[in-house]
Amino acid sequence: MGYIGSHTAVQLLLSGYQVHIYDNLCNSNIDTLQRIKRIAGKDLGFTYGDIRDTQKLTAALKENSIEAVIHLAGLKAVGESSKKPIEYYSNNTQGSISLIQAMQAVHISTLVFSSSATVYGDPVYLPYDEAHPTFPTNPYGHNKLQIEQMLHDLAFSDKNWRIACLRYFNPVGAHESGLIGENPNGIPNNLMPVIGQVANGKLAQLSIFGNDYSTSDGTGKRDYIHVMDLADGHLMALNWLQENLGCHTFNLGSGSSFSVLELLRCFEKVSAKKIPYQIVARRPGDLSEYYAKVDKAEKILGWKTRRSLEDICTSSWNWIKNSKNN
Ligand SMILES: NC(=O)c1ccc[n+]([C@@H]2O[C@H](COP(=O)([O-])OP(=O)(O)OC[C@H]3O[C@@H](n4cnc5c(N)ncnc54)[C@H](O)[C@@H]3O)[C@@H](O)[C@H]2O)c1
Repeated sequence: MGYIGSHTAVQLLLSGYQVHIYDNLCNSNIDTLQRIKRIAGKDLGFTYGDIRDTQKLTAALKENSIEAVIHLAGLKAVGESSKKPIEYYSNNTQGSISLIQAMQAVHISTLVFSSSATVYGDPVYLPYDEAHPTFPTNPYGHNKLQIEQMLHDLAFSDKNWRIACLRYFNPVGAHESGLIGENPNGIPNNLMPVIGQVANGKLAQLSIFGNDYSTSDGTGKRDYIHVMDLADGHLMALNWLQENLGCHTFNLGSGSSFSVLELLRCFEKVSAKKIPYQIVARRPGDLSEYYAKVDKAEKILGWKTRRSLEDICTSSWNWIKNSKNN
């Protein structure tokens, strides 16, 4: 029901899956449910609940005859995780243990897990491939790595499990309908929602954290991936798991990187809006550049990104315009 989950639900419904969402709405809105239905032209189920409520979650899995789980529920603000680590360990790590216990109780053993490129930490080499050492530098990254390790141990101990850990790079963009997109509660953390709030006048300017990195224009470079490409990645992983046992890790990224200023310029071009910005100090822990090696997902899942930076900016602008009118 959150950002990535809503787009994934659309792609699952359109490819014939039945979908039931379980969410405590701590960072999403119930209206999104109707919007998913409208885009897909199909109905889907919903249970309001916290994944740490193992009993409720077990009942929801059982009552809705769930056969596979895509686990996206989590807190995701890297900076906040350093300020509230125990909240993050409780929600993300403990929440994942609760989910696995609920799945075990009703004998469901197919799971797609939302991991993150944050698990890699400072690059020893680029692009990051799945064998790159993992040294996360914040509690959020520790949570993701702990959960991945737990899932590997689980699949080792019980050969019935079929698990895909998807390491997302930087999801951006929105559904082309403009009906769903990234809509965080409170002050946004990610770059695109902030650009959106500047574009629609809610914020005066964008702060860019540092322009003295060793990149072409000095601003940080990231591997941006269109959320619809990411949604397709979940679908391909789920299909692949039908035929494959064990726990497997895949990077989901585009394989190339763009700077903050390149993204900004592209957004200005498609929106015909000027986005004022100021350069402020670097944020501790931010990396100069990183991007994914994506051969594994292409070779094994048959997945690669199809959408461009321009598609990302056009869909984001469409969503921003639409949400302003709602
Ligand atoms: N967006 C990114 O940049 C990014 C990058 C890498 C990985 N991820 C991971 O992907 C997943 C989804 O990210 P998103 O961008 O869609 O975030 P999101 O905040 O939009 O969606 C997460 C959803 O989980 C729900 N949730 C959180 N804690 C819950 C709990 N305890 N019980 C039930 N529901 C709960 C929230 O209400 C929200 O609807 C997260 O696990 C995140 O860590 C996101």
